[in-house]
Amino acid sequence: MTTKPTLLQQLPPDLDGNRLPKQVAVIMDGNGRWAGQRGLPRVMGHRKGVDALKALLRCCRDWGIPGLTAYAFSTENWGRPSEEVAFLMTLFERVLRRELAEMMREQVRIRFVGNLSALPDSLQAEIAVAMEETANNTGIEFTVATNYGGRQEILRACRSIAQQVQDGEITADAIDEQLFRQHLYTADLPDPDLLIRTSGEMRISNFLLWQLAYAEIYVTDTLWPDFDRSAFHQALLAYQKRDRRFGKIRE
Ligand code: IPE
Ligand code: IPE
Ligand code: MG
Repeated sequence: MTTKPTLLQQLPPDLDGNRLPKQVAVIMDGNGRWAGQRGLPRVMGHRKGVDALKALLRCCRDWGIPGLTAYAFSTENWGRPSEEVAFLMTLFERVLRRELAEMMREQVRIRFVGNLSALPDSLQAEIAVAMEETANNTGIEFTVATNYGGRQEILRACRSIAQQVQDGEITADAIDEQLFRQHLYTADLPDPDLLIRTSGEMRISNFLLWQLAYAEIYVTDTLWPDFDRSAFHQALLAYQKRDRRFGKIRE
């Protein structure tokens, strides 16, 4: 009899189920390099990257992590060659359509954050359907940052708050952290506890600038398409070794 390879379906025993991050954010980087190393066009890396994201979502669900936010397309990514941008937009659309039934089965609630109105109409329509259909699902909260920029998000919040002040709805004194975060795309979501960036780059690249204030940052050299359960396991082990002080000191 052969024993099945361990799929780490259950939480690995060296992880503490009571100290898991509630919200994981991930900068899925390195798709182009992954493809390049194999002599493939960059877009093949993006295609493979979708599988890695699906696997991570399932892993979060299996291990009891309630929220995942993935950076899919930044406001700066429009500066890439138009064929790559077009491929990505079509990929997002196709994947959404293809995965909706499974997201319903698995009770995934999907949300998109970013300037969605600048996306192709057909993608916007697919996004609207997916968000609406999954709105009452009670499983994992899955957020996809698409045409997202942290600076743009903060400016948008400022404009909307300024408008409220101008309209006499609130006074300037009323602007505090609590109010400010209500004007962010992520108003309903907790701040990430853990930020993972793949491909070894030590930067934020305009992701969740406000929300990451006290996130633990984990950078791995693994390229995004290769980021699997065991890579996530390593990230969580590192996270659980961190001493989160939030500016205070240990007793
Ligand atoms: C991340 O991989 C995916 C997106 C930004 C859409 P990249 O496409 O940035 O891959 P590299 O960094 O060039 O290897
Ligand atoms: C960040 O990756 C954006 C996404 C993963 C969607 P980039 O590849 O665009 O970031 P830089 O250019 O290395 O900072
Ligand atoms: Mg990159």
